[in-house]
Amino acid sequence: MSVLFYMSGMSGNEIRRKYLEFFEGKGHAIVPSAALVPENDPTTLFTGSGMQPMLPYLLGQPHPKGTRIADSQKAFRADDIEEVGDNRHTTFFEMLGNWSFGDYFKEEQISWMFEFLTKVVGLDPQKLYFTVFAGDEKNNLPKDDESVAIWQRLLADAGVSHGVAHIGSEADGGKCGMKEGERIFYYEAKKNWWSRAGVPEKMPAGEPGGPDTEMFYDFGTEHDTKYGEHCHPNCDCGRFIEIGNNVFMEYVKNQDGTFSKLPQKNVDFGGGLERIAAAAIDTPDVFKIDLLDSVVQQIEKLSGKKYEDNLLAFRVITDHMRGATFMIGEGIYPSNTEQGYFVRRLLRRSVRYADVLGIPAGRLKDIVESVIAPYQGFYPNVVEKKQEIMEMIAQEETQFRKTLAKGLKVLSGDIAKTFELGREKPENIPDLSMVDGHPGGIPGVTSRFLTGKWFFYIYQTFGFPLEMSLEEIEKRGIRFNDFDVGVIEKDFKAEFKKHQETSRAGAEHKFKGGLADHSEKVVQYHTATHLLLAALRKELGNEVHQAGSNITGERLRFDFTYPKKVEKETLAKLEEYVNDAIKAGAKVTIETMKKADAENDPTVEGSFWDRYPDEVTVYTVSDDNSVIYSRELCGGPHVENTSALNGTFKITSEESSSAGVRRIKAILE
Ligand code: ALA
Repeated sequence: MSVLFYMSGMSGNEIRRKYLEFFEGKGHAIVPSAALVPENDPTTLFTGSGMQPMLPYLLGQPHPKGTRIADSQKAFRADDIEEVGDNRHTTFFEMLGNWSFGDYFKEEQISWMFEFLTKVVGLDPQKLYFTVFAGDEKNNLPKDDESVAIWQRLLADAGVSHGVAHIGSEADGGKCGMKEGERIFYYEAKKNWWSRAGVPEKMPAGEPGGPDTEMFYDFGTEHDTKYGEHCHPNCDCGRFIEIGNNVFMEYVKNQDGTFSKLPQKNVDFGGGLERIAAAAIDTPDVFKIDLLDSVVQQIEKLSGKKYEDNLLAFRVITDHMRGATFMIGEGIYPSNTEQGYFVRRLLRRSVRYADVLGIPAGRLKDIVESVIAPYQGFYPNVVEKKQEIMEMIAQEETQFRKTLAKGLKVLSGDIAKTFELGREKPENIPDLSMVDGHPGGIPGVTSRFLTGKWFFYIYQTFGFPLEMSLEEIEKRGIRFNDFDVGVIEKDFKAEFKKHQETSRAGAEHKFKGGLADHSEKVVQYHTATHLLLAALRKELGNEVHQAGSNITGERLRFDFTYPKKVEKETLAKLEEYVNDAIKAGAKVTIETMKKADAENDPTVEGSFWDRYPDEVTVYTVSDDNSVIYSRELCGGPHVENTSALNGTFKITSEESSSAGVRRIKAILE
């Protein structure tokens, strides 16, 4: 057996390049990352995994580049904002992805992954662990013994011992640990079934999913005191970190809740570039890799503090500034709604933690360059936008500091009133509950007024994190004892969770609502939307562009740039245009083009060009006589032929949406 040097120390940039080369060598077309905001996908705010833009192809639509595709996809997970601070969570990350659309399956995927991780990246196979699907009897979904057999063979060839263990998901929390030599673990659907909606029960009809086999890297036990005898790959002590997930997407959920095989067997692989890079340098801290370390160093310079002494603040600023930089680079600006709201949150949290580190006001913008530096070669568009990004961040910081100042006034006022009123509740403090069993502190102050609920109110309204409010209050002469702080923290967290659950329920609702209809009606409305835009431009002129789109299974809603009301007669003409296209049975064809060519081609309509990668897809709707009904930049999915549009196109309302923007709602009835 040959001796390998496993500690390659390969950088994130090198791993990305080698990964794409590796899969290109295995016959894959390399495609650019899709935008962070999925265009024309009403089901979700952000691209959160590499498979999202691939959904139509997993469901059977042919990909213009063939059946083997690989990429590195920019992704953002808004749910993880509050998780940032540990050694591995980031909101923005890159997901290395490769897909087989009805081409290769388990054997190739697993062998290639093992080869890539151990031979190309140079990870020590002794440090790799694997999980597989234990089956789900309720849903008649079989156990994945095939993947186990393939891992066993590869490990044997590499001279690594490979015991197999069954660990049910309920074992999380440490009821049942791993034993010496165990390396492959069966887990239930909760851990080893993948669909966008989660476990089989949660999947809406029409949604694809499948068993997965995940790969973990063993970072050792020294760094984490929580490690114990009950540890196993999916426990959360921090010893094992998941670095990649091979999904064998071969099922689709039926209307009646059962599962069928998809017409084709697909592979959907997603691997966290940052985590693989951390494994490559054998360091259980993603903030130490080349793609993030430049930012950490810059924060050290600006603050005069050391990363090691201030992990939380450094990690939050590093992650959030990277997320905000990429978003603004794609034209998503801070605002109070939709995606913009998250950019605002990222920046506000960065300001607060900048204060914790003593970074002078107005300097956040000086972090941008260090965020961009490692991406020079791969994402030139953020490099080009540097100036704009810096200006926007500076502006947002100034504005937020004004809000903070206002918040401080309210906080001071409330505290002063609390002092004055003694046992009375100040009017502008929300209804607060009495904390039972409070042992004292300042009578009637901490126990009755400055409870977790009040702190949460200050947090929500002015963006003050709990520690900051506590500090400000202490500055004003109130001392909290440990009991006070404990009760306040508990109460604050409970409020926080309640709020988070409400907003998650909202997000999930949106996600599922769209998904349930995704396969058919939404796709029909999406094609109808293209036809509507073409009709609008024909009737009202080429100044008309898309300003927004929202589609459900019941209707389309389309916002477009136009300064005045659209006349009734014109609305009738728009309907006629779309209905003619439906009657014509026009074909929808996809072509891939260089963005620059598409942008310069007057026959291609598009908006939000900034959000698109260098290579784009253009959808054309045309009939047998080469009459072009629509030609538009888009990421799909669409029907194959307009005859699939079920019904007559009818506009149900036309109204103002915002200054210079009109809104049309329409149905197919
Ligand atoms: N789509 C799979 C994931 O996100 C690969 O984990």
